[in-house]
Amino acid sequence: MIRDNKELMAEIGRVAEVAGYLWTKGWAERNGGNISVNVTHLMTDEEKALPALAARVQLPAEMDALKGHVFFVTGTGKRMRYVAQNPFENGSLIRISPDGLFYEIIAEKPTQPTSELPSHLSMHNYVRSTGRDNRVVLHTHPTDLIGLTHGPKFLNSEYLTRTLWAMIPECRIIVPKGIGIVRYEIPGTMDLARATIKQLEKHDVVFWEKHGILAVGEDLIECFDTIDTLSKSAQIYFSARMAGFEPEGMTDEQLDGLVDAFNL
Ligand code: 13P
Ligand code: ZN
Repeated sequence: MIRDNKELMAEIGRVAEVAGYLWTKGWAERNGGNISVNVTHLMTDEEKALPALAARVQLPAEMDALKGHVFFVTGTGKRMRYVAQNPFENGSLIRISPDGLFYEIIAEKPTQPTSELPSHLSMHNYVRSTGRDNRVVLHTHPTDLIGLTHGPKFLNSEYLTRTLWAMIPECRIIVPKGIGIVRYEIPGTMDLARATIKQLEKHDVVFWEKHGILAVGEDLIECFDTIDTLSKSAQIYFSARMAGFEPEGMTDEQLDGLVDAFNL
């Protein structure tokens, strides 16, 4: 029945498409990375009321802004290269309970959601509570961007943002709010979730020190493109360094010129 819903299947098809990009980019070693997409608006009332396939699971806090919402989430331990081939074998649809305190898996198989689910849902809940129609949390492990977080000077949001913006005009245009930084926390923990939410007050992209990148937004392809653009900037930076010189970067004037030209 779920598979008869063309719009829902198209959205899950986009999850598969992006999972394929993450793998071919080299950002998704083994089970690295995870994706959650809010699909509530694509489901009929009947589909939203599907019976649970496994016992309900308590959430770390009340998800006030997500009551009754449905998400497609990649499974824990699942490989992006296989999500690309078969999203329903490597992910599941979950429904938040009407009181916002539990989730249950409703389709298509009882595949256990990503270990970062508490983080993802807390972020969906936070961004939605600010009035934005946020639908996506995308977490991945781009080699070049993680590499930057091993350099202490890049663990400064302003410096990191300025460095990447200055490599190519598109970077400031596509990531106008710059980059937030979260110092190292154990993956999958609420400490990581809380620190990330703090950064989401100002940014849509957050670097997790020595671990990975996370982007929120309304559209999964846009979230992927945001991270891809940052990765391009990092590659330009590293290419120059590998050629033996510090890249000059765009000047302040050149960067400021983009603000009016592109209504940033
Ligand atoms: P999962 O396989 O549980 O999604 O974990 C992957 C990951 O990248 C954790 O940060
Ligand atoms: Zn990770």
